[in-house]
Amino acid sequence: MAMRLRGLVLLAVAAALGLWNSTSFVGARLPGRTSSIALEAEAAPKKKEKAPWVGPKKGSWVKILRPESYWYQTRGQVVNVNQKPEVKYPVTVKFDRVNFSNVNTNGFALWEVIEAPAPGPGEV
Ligand SMILES: *[C@@H]1O[C@H](CO)[C@@H](O)[C@H](O)[C@H]1NC(C)=O
Ligand SMILES: *[C@@H]1O[C@H](CO)[C@@H](O)[C@H](O)[C@H]1NC(C)=O
Repeated sequence: MAMRLRGLVLLAVAAALGLWNSTSFVGARLPGRTSSIALEAEAAPKKKEKAPWVGPKKGSWVKILRPESYWYQTRGQVVNVNQKPEVKYPVTVKFDRVNFSNVNTNGFALWEVIEAPAPGPGEV
């Protein structure tokens, strides 16, 4: 009987500790009036949350670091960055100048471009 009682006491202490910990955890994250609804609202978007964007943002300016490129050292604007990791040249960049094939876009690897400031008026 004494053994069972001690077991129960230990269980109660463990439960109390667990409860105290989880409540203090919730309190620390969400101070003030909170409910389980608020908790769910906060947790729900996390499941659908998109993976962080890889590479430069669309519309940002980059400088080309690929030496053999026609646009080496020139600036262009990012049209898109393919987010699939298997794509070899995911960064599509549009330039002001066309190359000898009259093309003004090209795909680059992430390490072949570096973010650059937007050109000033009249600059490229
Ligand atoms: C209480 O929570 C913290 C952080 O969540 C954890 O590191 C710690 O081990 C927990 N303690 C107990 C008694 O559960
Ligand atoms: C012009 O650029 C396109 C796209 O990168 C490329 O396929 C083509 O070979 C280039 N043409 C010349 C003449 O460099």
